[in-house]
Amino acid sequence: MTRPSARDGAVTTPWWKKATGYQIYPRSFCDSNGDGIGDIPGIISKLDHLQDLGIGFIWLSPVYRSPMVDNGYDISDYQDVAPEYGTMQDLDRLIDEAANRGIGLVMDLVVNHCSDQHAWFRKAVASSVCREHDYFIWADATDGPDVLPSDIESVFGGPAWTHLPEVGKFYFHQFASGQPDLNWQNPELRAEIYAMMNWWLDRGIAGFRMDVIDLIGKDVGAGKLAEGPYLHDFLQEMHSQTVKGRDVLTVGESWCASPETGPLYCGEDRDELSMIFQFDHIKATWDPEFGKWKNVPVDLPRFKTTLANWQYALEDSGWNSLFLSNHDLPRQVSRYGDDGTYRNRSAKMLAIMMHLLKGTPFVYQGEEIGMTNANFHSLEQYRDLEVAGRLAEALEKGSTVEVFLEGARRNARDNARTPMQWTAGENAGFGAGAPWIDVNMNHTTINVAADGADPDGIIHTYKQLIEMRKTSAVVREGRTTFHVVDHKQVCAYTRELGDQTIAVVANMSADSVEFVAPPALCGQGQPLVSNIASRHSIDSVTVLEPYEAYAVLRNAQHSKRCCHQNGVVAQHALEA
Ligand code: GLC
Ligand code: CA
Repeated sequence: MTRPSARDGAVTTPWWKKATGYQIYPRSFCDSNGDGIGDIPGIISKLDHLQDLGIGFIWLSPVYRSPMVDNGYDISDYQDVAPEYGTMQDLDRLIDEAANRGIGLVMDLVVNHCSDQHAWFRKAVASSVCREHDYFIWADATDGPDVLPSDIESVFGGPAWTHLPEVGKFYFHQFASGQPDLNWQNPELRAEIYAMMNWWLDRGIAGFRMDVIDLIGKDVGAGKLAEGPYLHDFLQEMHSQTVKGRDVLTVGESWCASPETGPLYCGEDRDELSMIFQFDHIKATWDPEFGKWKNVPVDLPRFKTTLANWQYALEDSGWNSLFLSNHDLPRQVSRYGDDGTYRNRSAKMLAIMMHLLKGTPFVYQGEEIGMTNANFHSLEQYRDLEVAGRLAEALEKGSTVEVFLEGARRNARDNARTPMQWTAGENAGFGAGAPWIDVNMNHTTINVAADGADPDGIIHTYKQLIEMRKTSAVVREGRTTFHVVDHKQVCAYTRELGDQTIAVVANMSADSVEFVAPPALCGQGQPLVSNIASRHSIDSVTVLEPYEAYAVLRNAQHSKRCCHQNGVVAQHALEA
């Protein structure tokens, strides 16, 4: 597969700075054989949709062999495909067929933990003196099996320690008990992981998305888990042993990264990762006490401040990922927009607001057509182990099923995991058999066929934005400045490169807003993209419609020319 890095003047731009990513959650994307579970042949059958969208690479959530306790984030064989998803041949075909369409395949790498069904763990349990025993983290049951080694809790609820009578020890797991943590202190384990990564890279994949990578450098004894003392040593070693010299993308998931620590992972001289997924802007909208299980309105100034801080922190060295959605988060139009009256408009507003920032955007399956939260009403509809784990905990703390269900309806991970809505037909065109999780009832109106056929469809805005990133240096490299960060409704920023400036305004509220713009934002230009009607300028006072968003391109050369109503003209100006 060739993924040429284009030259912009003297500076080489890596291909992933021009590309937009697309995340596929394989279980829910497309089911080719009617067993109710999405699969790799299903993904291959939909590659034309992704090519049409214009994306540069897929991030594929895990398809490895797995007991599926956490839908594949519990891997029992890193070098094989889960039978329900297909075969290694199918996966090789996916790599090839995607490459034929100019699309790279980025695999999910889950190496903070594996499955308790992995051969390493089975051996480790069977013998305390075998090599694999030390691949895991153990604690003696000195005071008996009922006295936990420490009070560290698992992310899915309950203690992070499980006692195994056959071993006479506890093992450590930050997630489910079926996901034992790997002991990165062991050099033989690390060598096995690097060998496995190279085996995948040699197959022609475009890189890795690294699951909870901020946890691998932990010191459990000292209680330092996220961003532990060994993290960057391990990431540098991993880089030198695997991706060094290869033209691939690496993106590490880090729930704890801050603008201060972000550059350590992806700064240009660090030899660690291309970029990280950080979650400051997501956590900024959670309840300080109850986290995501209690619904609170988005605090827009806080949200914007986090986005701005990250743009500034990585301005000169490092690179941002840009996203509001993934398989662990609610649907973005439901969380930050309006999934009712203004669904179409607010979905486009969010796309414009995120895609014109500096970084690599990631689109989560269905986002491009404005898919909404699942709207589940009963506990039985949920499939995610986190829901069961957290419910038990909430009830213990005195909450009620009703209160918990309301939180889950807003923020549970299953909101993003309902089947992809391809058509208005049976099972939303996902597959012939009853899907593993309920289809959203609104598929009769929200689906790829309907959105694509509608000239006003959301997907067309996505295509426009994805194309701009490929062709425009100011979209890719322009310096970001946020304005009116304290404004409670409007998000506004500029991007500047040479004599070009892009000014973006987005009304993130359902109100019509009389927006007073600071001078740096104001000016005549050419309409670049919009979600209502194109506008040529940002004036000192502009009345913004509910959820209206638009961008204006100002160019020293072009600004005096008569302005065209058509975004295509501005697109040409961008390329000039
Ligand atoms: C990451 C994944 C999530 C998974 C967890 C444990 O956060 O995105 O889906 O449950 O890691 O692997
Ligand atoms: Ca299937």
